[in-house]
Amino acid sequence: MDIERIGNYMAPFVFDLDVTTGVMKGFKNHIERRASSMRGYYADEAALESIIAGGDPILYEVFECTVPELYGHLTVGISKLYPGTVGQECFMTKGHYHQVIETGEVYLCLGGSGYLLMKTKDGDFSALPMERGKVVYVPPSWAHRSVNCGNVPLVSFFVYNAESGHNYGDIETEGFIKRVFKRDGSVVIE
Ligand code: F6R
Ligand code: ZN
Repeated sequence: MDIERIGNYMAPFVFDLDVTTGVMKGFKNHIERRASSMRGYYADEAALESIIAGGDPILYEVFECTVPELYGHLTVGISKLYPGTVGQECFMTKGHYHQVIETGEVYLCLGGSGYLLMKTKDGDFSALPMERGKVVYVPPSWAHRSVNCGNVPLVSFFVYNAESGHNYGDIETEGFIKRVFKRDGSVVIE
């Protein structure tokens, strides 16, 4: 990672973000999640396998400005979740707790529509709407997953503590309490 310095300190930096499209310039980290990386996440495993066999498309992407993964720093970026369903289940991110579980996160939705699903280790659940202009505060201890219920990409800007880390393993084993489906054109959380 190239960190510029001024004197004894990391230099401030600026980057361009098109808030209409979510296109971010100057990202250092780019993650692509294809259908094949989502095995075990969706209820309809056969439907996922047929999407994989059909070309294994990218289901979502993350663009981040990397900073030192240290207390006090903030990681910012864009999450872009494409529209679609696996069977009837809306495309979603893997979802995770933060490894440092007492760190929170802020999501600002720039476009699209869906939900941010959240859950705690105690089994509490929350689903808050995501659409342009919604800011969701994810408090410490809440695992979080984006779900796209619309027909265009769900694009969000996020900020979280750079030392947070990501714990995917617990969600892989616990699941997320509820799933979001499109049934006969209606979105249902069940
Ligand atoms: C970072 C964060 C988001 C997600 C992104 C992809 O802490 O919450 O940047 O990483 O929306 O979701 P996951 O990481 O669950 O695959
Ligand atoms: Zn997070």
